Amino acid sequence: MSAAGAKIAAPAPETIARAAEIVRSGGLVAFPTETVYGLGADATSDKAVAAVFAAKARPRFNPLIIHFPDLAAAAAAAVFDARALTLARRFWPGPLTLVLPRRADCPVSLLACAGLETIAVRVPADDVAQALLVAAKRPLAAPSANPSGSVSPTTAAHVAEALGGKIALVLDGGPSRIGIESTVVDLSGQEARILRPGGVARADIEAVLGPLAPGPAGDSAQPRSPGLALQHYAPSRPLRLDAESGPERPAEALLAFGAHPPPGYAAVRNLSPAGDVVEAAANLFAMLRELDRPEYAQIAVMPVPESGLGEAINDRLRRAAGGAKADAAAPLRQPPRRAG
Ligand code: TXA
Ligand code: MG
Repeated sequence: MSAAGAKIAAPAPETIARAAEIVRSGGLVAFPTETVYGLGADATSDKAVAAVFAAKARPRFNPLIIHFPDLAAAAAAAVFDARALTLARRFWPGPLTLVLPRRADCPVSLLACAGLETIAVRVPADDVAQALLVAAKRPLAAPSANPSGSVSPTTAAHVAEALGGKIALVLDGGPSRIGIESTVVDLSGQEARILRPGGVARADIEAVLGPLAPGPAGDSAQPRSPGLALQHYAPSRPLRLDAESGPERPAEALLAFGAHPPPGYAAVRNLSPAGDVVEAAANLFAMLRELDRPEYAQIAVMPVPESGLGEAINDRLRRAAGGAKADAAAPLRQPPRRAG
C-alpha cells in the first residue's frame, strides 16, 4: 500500500483477473502501457467514464482514447477506411491513436467521446495492458493517469503518488518503455493530420500515407478560438442556461438537475435527481441528444453547481449554448467584417 492508499500490484494472473473484475463492475484501474500509465475504465459505461473525469479533475470533457486488444475489436467501434487499415496494420499494437468516425452501433459511451461523432482508438503493445484488455472483455477508456494539468506518469509510483486515493488498484509493469503519449492522427476528414505528436514519428506516418496536412489542428482557412482546439458536439436547438422556473416559450424542453424541476415543460430529462454531479456528467451527452429534437423549440437547462465535475459540465453547457461564456480567454465570435 502507498501512503496515498492505492494498492500497487505486480501483474500476476490473479491480479489481472481482479483488475478486470474491478473494471467490469464500473471501477477504475491504473495500468501500464508502452507510452505512459493509463487510468482505465469500462468505455461502454457512462458512469465509469464519468468517474475517470472526476478522478483526473479534468476541467473539461476532453474526449478520451479508447483502448482495444486488437484491430478486430476496434473495428466494432470505429469506421476504418483504407488509410486507417494501413496505419493500424503497420503500427498496431503500438503508440498510435487514430481518430475515426464512430460506427452507428458503436458501444462506447458518448461521454468518453465528448459527444463527438468521432472516436479515438488505440491498440497498446504493453503485455500488461493487453492482458487486462483481454480479461476485462471491454474496451478501456484511458487517459494518462495523472491529475489534469500535471505530467503523464511513467511508473506505478507516479500514479499512486498523484491519484492513489482515487483508484482501487495500480498494476505495476515497471517504467514505461516509450514514456511519451501516443501520436494522435485524425483520419475523420479528407486530410489526415497529426493532432498530437507522440510515440510514432511524423516521418514514419508520412512514409505510409504520404505528406500530411500541417498540424496540429487549426489552419488559416479555419481559424479557431483559443480553448476551442477541438470541435465539440453542439445541439441544434438553442440552449437557455440557468433556468429556475417554468418555460419561457411553448414547446420548450428542460434539462433538469436536482429534486425539484419546475413544471410545465414539454419534456424533461433529469441529469441527477439526487443532485450528484458525477451522475449528471454520465447522463449529460445522452440526455442533451434526447432533447435535441425538432419538436422542441429550445432546451432550458437548470443550474448545475460548479463543484467537482460541475465545472466540466458547465463548460460543455456554455459551449453548447453558444460559447459566449465558454472561455474567458477566448474572444467572442466576431461577425464577418464587411469589405469597404
Ligand atoms: O499514450 C497515450 O495515448 C495514453 C495512454 C494511456 O494510452 N493516453 C492518453 O490519453 O494520452 P489522454 O486522454 O491523456 O489524451 C487523449 C488525446 C487528447 O489530446 C484528446 O484531445 C485526443 O486524444 N482525442 C481523443 N478523442 C478524440 C477525438 N474524438 N477527436 C480528436 N481528438 C481526440
Ligand atoms: Mg494526458
